[in-house]
Amino acid sequence: MYITPTLNDSEPTSKPRAIAVLTSGGDCPGMNPAIRGVVRAALHKGIKVFGVQRGYSGLIIGDMQEMDSSSVSNIVQRGGTFLKSDRCPAFKDPAVRYQAAEVLKEKGIDAVVVIGGDGSLTGAHLLTSENDIRVIGLPGTIDNDIYGTDLTIGFDTAVNTAVEAIDRIRDTALSHESLFLVEVMGRNSGFIATHVGIACGAEMIIIPEYELQIDAICFQLVNNRLQGKSSSGIIVVAEGPKPGVTTNIAKQLNQQELDPKVCILGHIQRGGSPSGHDRVLASCLGTSAVDYLCAGYNDVMIGVQNGKIKETPLHQIIENNKQLDNQLFERALMLHK
Ligand code: F6P
Repeated sequence: MYITPTLNDSEPTSKPRAIAVLTSGGDCPGMNPAIRGVVRAALHKGIKVFGVQRGYSGLIIGDMQEMDSSSVSNIVQRGGTFLKSDRCPAFKDPAVRYQAAEVLKEKGIDAVVVIGGDGSLTGAHLLTSENDIRVIGLPGTIDNDIYGTDLTIGFDTAVNTAVEAIDRIRDTALSHESLFLVEVMGRNSGFIATHVGIACGAEMIIIPEYELQIDAICFQLVNNRLQGKSSSGIIVVAEGPKPGVTTNIAKQLNQQELDPKVCILGHIQRGGSPSGHDRVLASCLGTSAVDYLCAGYNDVMIGVQNGKIKETPLHQIIENNKQLDNQLFERALMLHK
């Protein structure tokens, strides 16, 4: 349960005439309940709401449909995004953003709710900075790497999915006394790896926030072997800037005859039914987005901070990197054998 702020929505000019909602960038579990939250809250307040297909790509060409309450029935439990998503490099062009704003104005839409990661929120900020369209961003990414919110929509589900997969790998690792390097997602950030590593009792966690010390890792693993400790184990590796880093680490461990097996979990972490936690978070953020619009807000992202729904200006979201809690990582190290 998140504490929602009491916002003043008594100024009639603040209420949007019509809202468009879109999902953008990598999909994540929880996008559907977030869309549902926006649609149902808008209808509750008597505001028209349109669902945009394929993120900014659909916005540019006006591919959107007006939604009613039943448009979002039976989606709260579904993974992915029923509006579909897209990475849209064309939206980096101001002329293309102008075109999108004109499409919205033609349809009488004056506000957009964008659900996505940092690239998508940057697009939202630029759209409103250059055009007379209001925007509210919601943090939707499994990576949890968005400033201004303790949690992003999809992170909890992705962590649970990876933990479930690694629990299975652990069975094989124990049976065959083998070492596994398991690569998890989280472009350039170690949130998923750290949480997953703690939750599945990993023997080691490798994340981009800390320099990779391959010699120290080899030394420890060889030493464990010499001391007769079980050679079975799980090392969770964050993918870093691009997937596949684990294959290189495995090559280096092989030089010491450690013979690790590599498992890259990949997109399995992005799919699946959202966890109960993600459904509640997404529903609170989706409905709050409409509250904030009706209270006159623009150019902010709505997130959660210390259990409370809180807005942060989008330019701050773009300018700041969310830092991994060092204490959490230190705690993970404490838990290693
Ligand atoms: O940002 C979400 C994410 O799933 C990252 O963890 C991953 O690096 C990236 O998207 C993969 O993107 P794509 O599916 O476009 O290859």
